[in-house]
Amino acid sequence: MNKVKLGIIGYGKMGSQHAANLMKGQVPEAELTAVADTDPQRLKLAKEQFKDTIWGYESAEELIQSGSCEAVIIATPHYYHPSMAIAAMEAGLHVLVEKPAGVYTSQVEEMNRVAEQHKELVCCVDFNQRTNPLYQKLKELIEAGELGQIKRTIWIITDWYRSQSYYDQGGWRATWKGEGGGVLLNQNPHNLDLWQWMCGMPKRVRADVSYGKHRNIEVEDEVTALVEYENGATGCYITTVGDAPGTNRLEVDGERGKIVIEGDKMKFFRLRTSEPEFNASYQGGIGKPEVWECEIPVKGKYTSHPGILSNFCDAIRKGSKRIAPLEEGILGLQISNGIHLSSWLGGAWVDLPVDGALYLNHLQKLCGGDVPV
Ligand SMILES: NC(=O)c1ccc[n+]([C@@H]2O[C@H](COP(=O)([O-])OP(=O)(O)OC[C@H]3O[C@@H](n4cnc5c(N)ncnc54)[C@H](O)[C@@H]3O)[C@@H](O)[C@H]2O)c1
Repeated sequence: MNKVKLGIIGYGKMGSQHAANLMKGQVPEAELTAVADTDPQRLKLAKEQFKDTIWGYESAEELIQSGSCEAVIIATPHYYHPSMAIAAMEAGLHVLVEKPAGVYTSQVEEMNRVAEQHKELVCCVDFNQRTNPLYQKLKELIEAGELGQIKRTIWIITDWYRSQSYYDQGGWRATWKGEGGGVLLNQNPHNLDLWQWMCGMPKRVRADVSYGKHRNIEVEDEVTALVEYENGATGCYITTVGDAPGTNRLEVDGERGKIVIEGDKMKFFRLRTSEPEFNASYQGGIGKPEVWECEIPVKGKYTSHPGILSNFCDAIRKGSKRIAPLEEGILGLQISNGIHLSSWLGGAWVDLPVDGALYLNHLQKLCGGDVPV
């Protein structure tokens, strides 16, 4: 089967990492044929690395219109993801967009509308953590009803440590105008996506958000959010770039026990009798259901970016089911935008999906005018 001819738009850290994975043969289903970057140095580097076997373009538009590839990876700063994805789809190219799908929901809705009109194209998001077998297993157990109804979810994801020197490198990061946020937009799109992917979408959110608390940046670097789900279950989400060593602990409590993922292991504290059943029949006053602590064996390999790219190519060539469909990129972003909006409204509850126009209005003020597209 022919390899998918691939173009990369944005040859920075992530774009060049995809290229390196291709060069190492980690994605045999694809070949790099084109690169676009507005920075001539990055373009030069790409051409040198691929010994002039690729086409180079100084803009996304030139690459998209060139006919040198049939699919693109969009690895530019976040604000550009939707508009570049739309241009690529309208030119008949398959699209793998980097996370986050965009910065604000109305631009991502527009991208999703165009994708809906181009069902002949394969469009995905690079949510590489969806290939982690631990999270796949937890999703499977929840969907199989092993926990019964979910009552509470708690994710403490504070091991995204970034020092001041990281931010002092400058550029588009950690600014409203360049990035549209901080830890929520840069590091957490993965976790917010996984959270909703495994546990479902909350119906509302409220949050306490700190801006420039640990680092000299204008955007958020610490977040504590509460959510509520349709069934009345609650959730708590805590993240920061300022903690070392930090924690990555996800706990999901349900009627039939709790599952905890921490330290790359999954433990199921399984109740012999479900809590509602126990409660309905137990007459002994103080007492608890019998609990069995089990380590859940998790098989499979975390294939990360090469796994997502292989799946993208297989979906193009063989119609394989997509691991991270483009249209799901908006879900984690809804939670992210909801957290910001709640903070801008003084910690009020914000219903999901968020009011996109209200969100954009606040973001525009923070950007000092029009947000980039
Ligand atoms: N999936 C992941 O795990 C993961 C990891 C890292 C980064 N990313 C995402 O990848 C994207 C890029 O991040 P990065 O760390 O590579 O940033 P980066 O700054 O290293 O690279 C961005 C590149 O895009 C180029 N660029 C900027 N504007 C452009 C334009 N209009 N047209 C063409 N090229 C343009 C820049 O010159 C630069 O080379 C971000 O959205 C980021 O969130 C995803």
